[in-house]
Amino acid sequence: METWLVTGGAGFIGANFVLLARQKQWANIVNLDKLTYAGNLQTLQSLRHDRGHHFIQGDIGNRELVKYILEQFAVTKIINFAAESHVDRSILAPDSFIQTNIVGTFHLLEVAKNYWQHLPPPAQANFRFLHVSTDEVYGSLSLTDPPFTETTPYAPNSPYSASKAAADHLVRSFHHTYQLPTLTTNCSNNYGPYQFPEKLIPLTILNAYENKPIPVYGKGENIRDWLYVTDHCTALYQVLTQGTPGETYNIGGESEKPNLEVVTTICSILDEIAPQATPRQSLITFVKDRPGHDLRYAINCNKIKTQLGWQPQENFTSGIRKTIEWYLHNLDWVNSVRSGAYRQWLQQNYGDRGASEPRPTQKHL
Ligand code: NAD
Ligand code: TYD
Repeated sequence: METWLVTGGAGFIGANFVLLARQKQWANIVNLDKLTYAGNLQTLQSLRHDRGHHFIQGDIGNRELVKYILEQFAVTKIINFAAESHVDRSILAPDSFIQTNIVGTFHLLEVAKNYWQHLPPPAQANFRFLHVSTDEVYGSLSLTDPPFTETTPYAPNSPYSASKAAADHLVRSFHHTYQLPTLTTNCSNNYGPYQFPEKLIPLTILNAYENKPIPVYGKGENIRDWLYVTDHCTALYQVLTQGTPGETYNIGGESEKPNLEVVTTICSILDEIAPQATPRQSLITFVKDRPGHDLRYAINCNKIKTQLGWQPQENFTSGIRKTIEWYLHNLDWVNSVRSGAYRQWLQQNYGDRGASEPRPTQKHL
C-alpha cells in the first residue's frame, strides 16, 4: 500500500480525509500537523492503534523534518491541507497566514520538488502534490453572476484568501517551471463533523443548543455554497488518483444559501430534536458586519463531475441534519476543543461587535 503525507491532518477537513483514507484503505498516512488552536488529536482518537497512521507534530515550513518524512516513509503523494483558515482571524492578525499559507507552502514545495527529482522514473510518474485551496481566491460574486469556474480570474479580498491565492500561484509555478506533478483544488465552504466552532455552522449549532446569542454578520444576506466534508474528501481522492497534473479542479456542494437561511434552518431542526418553550430563532442577533465581507461564493463543479465522475452524495437538507446530530452526540469532543484560547477568541472577535439591530422578529425570517 502507498504512504501519503497529509499536512494539517488534525484540523477539520484534513482529519476527515485521514479517517476516511484509513477506513477505505486508500493508503497509509503520515500526518504532519503543527497543532495550532485548530488542530486536535482528540479527532484522531479512533486511529490510536492503527499502525497505518503516523502522527508527527511539526511545521510544513520545517524543511529538514519534511525531507526526513518523505524519505523515511517513501511517500508517494502529498496532500496539503495545513493552513490558517479563518477569515476573521486573518483580519485581526494576518501574520501567521502569510507565514503558513505562503511561506510554509513554498518550503513544502521546495522539499517535495527535490525529493521528487531524485525518485526513480516510475515513482516520479506516480508522485502527486495535491494542494487544497478555496473558492475565496476568486473574490466575490454579485447575486446574478454565474458561479466560479476554473478559469475565473483570481481576485482575493481578505488576507486569508490573498494568502491562499499566493500559494496557488506558487503551486502553479512549480508545475510550469519544474514539471512537479501538482494538482490544485478550489472548494466552497465545508461543513460536517469535527469543524472547530469558530465557523458559522458549528458556532450556530452550539450556541442555539446552549441558548446563547447566535451572531449573524450584517443582515445575514451573504451567500455561501455549502459542501459536506465527506463529499469534499471523496472529490480529493478522485483528483489525487485520476486528476491530470498541472490542472485545477473546483469542488462545490451545489447548495447556495444565504447565512440567515442556514441559521434559521439549524434553529428549526434543533427545535424539533430538542424542543423547548422559546423557539431558538429568537437567539439570532445581527452584529456589526465583517470588514470587506464577500457577498457571494458559488462553484461550478462541472469539470470534476464530467472529467472525473465525482458527484456529491449529500444535499444541504441531509448534510445539515447529520451535522447537527453529530455535534449533539459528541459534546465531549466539543468540550475538549473549547480551551481557554477559544474563549479568548470569542471575546476578541465578538466583544466589541455589539448588536447592530434588534433581534429579528418572525417576519424577517
Ligand atoms: P483547520 O483550520 O480546521 O485546520 C488546519 C490544520 O492545519 C490544523 O490542524 C492546524 O494545526 C494545521 N496547521 C496550521 N499551520 C500549520 C503549519 N504551519 N504546519 C503544519 N500544520 C499546520 O482548516 P480546515 O477547515 O480543515 O481547512 C483545511 C484546508 O482546506 C485549508 O488549506 C483551507 O484553506 C482549505 N479550505 C477550507 C474550507 C472550509 O470550509 N473549512 C473551504 C475551502 C478551503
Ligand atoms: P465562515 O464560517 O467564517 O466561513 P467563510 O468566511 O470562509 O465563508 O463564515 C461563513 C459565513 O457566515 C460568512 O458570510 C460570515 C458569516 N458569519 C456570521 O454571520 N457570523 C459568525 O459568527 C461567523 C463566524 C460567520
